[in-house]
Amino acid sequence: MKVGFIGLGIMGSRMAANLQRAGHKLVVYNRTQAKADELVEKGAVRAQSVEEVAKQCRLVFTMLATPEAVEEVAVGPDGFLRALPGNSLWVDCSTVNPSFSQKMGHIARKMGQRFLYAPVSGSLVPAEKGELIFLVGGDAADLEQVRELLDVMGKSVVHAGENGQGASMKIVINMLLAQAMAAFSESLRLGTALGIAEETLCQTLLSTPAAAPFLKLKQQKLLNRDFSPEFPLEWMHKDLHLASITAYEQNIALPSLQTTKELYAQAKQQGFGEEDLSAIYKVFRPDA
Ligand SMILES: NC(=O)c1ccc[n+]([C@@H]2O[C@H](COP(=O)([O-])OP(=O)(O)OC[C@H]3O[C@@H](n4cnc5c(N)ncnc54)[C@H](OP(=O)(O)O)[C@@H]3O)[C@@H](O)[C@H]2O)c1
Repeated sequence: MKVGFIGLGIMGSRMAANLQRAGHKLVVYNRTQAKADELVEKGAVRAQSVEEVAKQCRLVFTMLATPEAVEEVAVGPDGFLRALPGNSLWVDCSTVNPSFSQKMGHIARKMGQRFLYAPVSGSLVPAEKGELIFLVGGDAADLEQVRELLDVMGKSVVHAGENGQGASMKIVINMLLAQAMAAFSESLRLGTALGIAEETLCQTLLSTPAAAPFLKLKQQKLLNRDFSPEFPLEWMHKDLHLASITAYEQNIALPSLQTTKELYAQAKQQGFGEEDLSAIYKVFRPDA
């Protein structure tokens, strides 16, 4: 069976490449066509539009930047959903908010299609190594249909529950990641101002339980001032915005989330949006 893959950015290109290496026949589409070249050279079929993907596949993965992009690609005027054969399966791996993923599931079902929301935890390197963690929300039978493919792209699959639950889990994780990255940067700021060498600070903080384990993966980026994107900062800002919308919908106050969101907004405003999320450090260290 041919597998459709729409969205070949940092994450999607690597996820699709793993499917291809495992022998799956792919039909691929990316808005910026050049990003599909490598997969096409290795045998994937290039679709000129998302509709063309849908006409050739009964299973379509999407890995897109934002809820707006997902909506446009799936149900916009040239969206792929209406071109899919009935009872096909759409698996969205993009990070979106729970109410949006529920809305997409609802629309897909109304259009006679099945929908699974399967966002991922893990960045560029786990995506490349096929070591992502899938946080799936949706029907268990639909999950079983794609489990083998998820196992190719990831090291574990968590079935969080009904549609919406995968998104909830993902948004909670990212809120924590964003805050940990910002808090670590702020701690480095104070420590260096007090005259402690940056490297010593990093090593000491990272050897205590006070620092989140993922920060070890960012240590070299900070010390080498290598902010090339693994997880673009602008998408972390988007995720904080989605968490903020969700907090509003739930009628709960999350004050540190709002402050952290504004820090990432400031970083974006300063031109660091397309750099790695670790570039938040530059808000605290303009000289960095
Ligand atoms: N990078 C990470 O570490 C990471 C980890 C977990 C989850 N995520 C999530 O995964 C998703 C993709 O992230 P990424 O890092 O792969 O980002 P990325 O490299 O910026 O890729 C974004 C993809 O979305 C496409 N896109 C954006 N707007 C579009 C539109 N209006 N119509 C059609 N296509 C559109 C882009 O197409 P073009 O190439 O034409 O721009 C590209 O294929 C995001 O939701 C992100 O939050 C990322």
